[in-house]
Amino acid sequence: MARKFFVGGNWKCNGTSEEVKKIVSTLNGGQVASADVVDVVVSPPFVFLPLVKSLLRSDFHVAAQNCWVKKGGAYTGEISAEMLLNLNIPWVILGHSERRLLLGESNEFVGDKVAYALSKGLKVIACVGETLEQRESGATVEVVAAQTKAIAERISDWTNVVLAYEPVWAIGTGKVATPAQAQEVHCELRKWLQINVSVEVAESTRIIYGGSVNGANCKELAAQPDVDGFLVGGASLKPEFVDIINSAT
Ligand code: G3H
Repeated sequence: MARKFFVGGNWKCNGTSEEVKKIVSTLNGGQVASADVVDVVVSPPFVFLPLVKSLLRSDFHVAAQNCWVKKGGAYTGEISAEMLLNLNIPWVILGHSERRLLLGESNEFVGDKVAYALSKGLKVIACVGETLEQRESGATVEVVAAQTKAIAERISDWTNVVLAYEPVWAIGTGKVATPAQAQEVHCELRKWLQINVSVEVAESTRIIYGGSVNGANCKELAAQPDVDGFLVGGASLKPEFVDIINSAT
């Protein structure tokens, strides 16, 4: 089964309203393959979501960078899945390593968030990835399998999940995984899904790569059989994001 290429732009905690408008205008003018060939989803900070949604071309979609683990209420500073749906935000990124490591989100907590967001109708970009220390100790596959297991144990339908493999050592460092390194882990993740979830889910779930992807290295990574797209940080704020989208073809 062919998996449609997926390119996400995670703008993280960056931008002013003026800068955001500029990025959107560049994207709106970009020549890219049709939405039949590639899904494009950009993820501005919460406060800019309505602005971006109102200005962005209709073939691209928006994602939040996080949401709360259950229904809203007395949770100061949090944004609920219900609120995102109320604003017609279709996607959310969950389990990004910056939240796992800086804010202490455990595998179980991320799994609970993914399950809740999906149950409310959001589509989820679920992130997994190992630290440099874990890679050097040979624990990469074990780490990403445990992160994926905590999600798999809590959901029964993977239709609306994109799995993002983002090695922590490659994020924002300029030290991109080699195509072979990315392919190896993507292939292991797909095998894990096949054994522990189902053949269908393994075949159909998009596994995208994130970590220092740019306009120059995207083509070679995109050519790997198990790399179904990208989650891009720094380069998603620049015009080269259009080139990354076009690595789909
Ligand atoms: O979510 C995106 C990743 O953290 C990658 O960030 O492209 O700046 O390395 P980066």
